[in-house]
Amino acid sequence: MAKNAKTVFVCGECGSENSKWVGKCPVCGAWNSMFEEKVVALDENDRRRRTSGRGNSADGSKAAPGKPERLASVVSGETTRINTGIGELNRVLGGGLVPGSLTLISGEPGIGKSTIILQAAQNIALEKGKVLYVSGEESEEQIKMRADRVCRGSISDNLFILAETNIENVAAVCRNLEPEFLIVDSIQTMYSAEIESAPGSVSQVRTCGNELMRIGKSDNIPVFIVAHVTKSGELAGPRILEHMVDCVLSFTGDRSHEMRILRAQKNRFGTTSEIGAFEMDQEGLVEIENLSGVLMEEMDKESEGAVATAVYEGTRPLILEVQALTSLCGGGFPRRTSLGIDNSRLAMLIAVLEKKMGLRLGNQDVYVNVVGGIRPEGTYTDLAVALAVYSTCTGRKLDSRTLVLGEIGLTGDLRAVQNAEKIIREAERLGFERVVLPIKNARHIKSKPDINVIGLKNIAEARNLF
Ligand code: TYD
Ligand code: MG
Repeated sequence: MAKNAKTVFVCGECGSENSKWVGKCPVCGAWNSMFEEKVVALDENDRRRRTSGRGNSADGSKAAPGKPERLASVVSGETTRINTGIGELNRVLGGGLVPGSLTLISGEPGIGKSTIILQAAQNIALEKGKVLYVSGEESEEQIKMRADRVCRGSISDNLFILAETNIENVAAVCRNLEPEFLIVDSIQTMYSAEIESAPGSVSQVRTCGNELMRIGKSDNIPVFIVAHVTKSGELAGPRILEHMVDCVLSFTGDRSHEMRILRAQKNRFGTTSEIGAFEMDQEGLVEIENLSGVLMEEMDKESEGAVATAVYEGTRPLILEVQALTSLCGGGFPRRTSLGIDNSRLAMLIAVLEKKMGLRLGNQDVYVNVVGGIRPEGTYTDLAVALAVYSTCTGRKLDSRTLVLGEIGLTGDLRAVQNAEKIIREAERLGFERVVLPIKNARHIKSKPDINVIGLKNIAEARNLF
């Protein structure tokens, strides 16, 4: 063990330290979350123990106290956002990259994290200046091969690549190069010489995250950190990383499908309801601007259990298809399986259908899927889910030119949703002939020449639609 090394126990949930092992974290209360770590005790004057930020002198050797600034005279990052050259990424970030911000991008292996970041790196290198791409996973040659595909042969001279896993070396290279944008792919491969544990362990991830935050905030450069997720979709490593960074983006999609969805789970500089859509093709990720149109292409025919619906994500409406299937349960408890909507929401809708529409689902397995791997948020899809289940159960089809949306309450009443007017406009553009929505929304909609707007008071009235 190195000189001055000591053993501490670190909580994988909140990152707090304890001198001895305990079953329950005294800070966040998580059970069995303590990991043993070896930490090298640092010198009193060591800069790495100091807080990040401008209070430090340039070489970090001496921490001068920070000076308070007048809030009114602080230059807002809004005015200096960096364009990544990828419209969908800018949108999810809230209008581009904020200088000095730390962004975490997570996703399953092979989903396209390295690809999207390389594309953004190339654009920023062309437009703004030096970009440093640090890779702990791939060699320079491997990255060059990917760059040849996505940059179409003309890689910017400002794009620098570094195959390195030691975070102190990354910091040193950064000080010399002074890049405008730093990328670290991935945090789980980085290690600090301060700590003895293996890369990817709780305290390594935490220390490397802290060091990257210091680099970003003190030199005012945006930093992108790639992070892996575990099988269940959780970030591998301490949750504390999510608390430390300014934005957490998750990149999801079906790997057998070309579509990829980028969503902000946390964003200190914008909303978290925006989504970005991409398609993986030969030359990297291509933005999908007309997402509703793409999702609709597969939706043209009428079929049992399929219902078109819409949600409002961030600043744009999105048309989706919900599918349901019921089948006689073989015995035991009937299954309720849903992809894209909350399982407990589905259970509630099934209860409403049984009570208000007279369906008998007690001996039926129920499956619901939102097509295209999209996970819509909110309650816009309630009516569509209920009608898809009703359709498959009764064998009655809903006309494919009909769009339904609305929240369903426990009494079976339909509740108004927001932005209905904008959703109707989008439905009209895509050639829908009827829109069915809560009566409270329908009252505020002016009559339209090309689309029939139908307002319903409760779910029972929906029977007449079939
Ligand atoms: P990658 O960005 O390496 O994924 P991650 O960093 O999230 O692990 O993307 C890997 C996948 O994308 C791989 O299966 C190949 C595919 N791909 C394309 O289809 N087209 C391309 O232009 C590129 C670069 C990758
Ligand atoms: Mg990668």
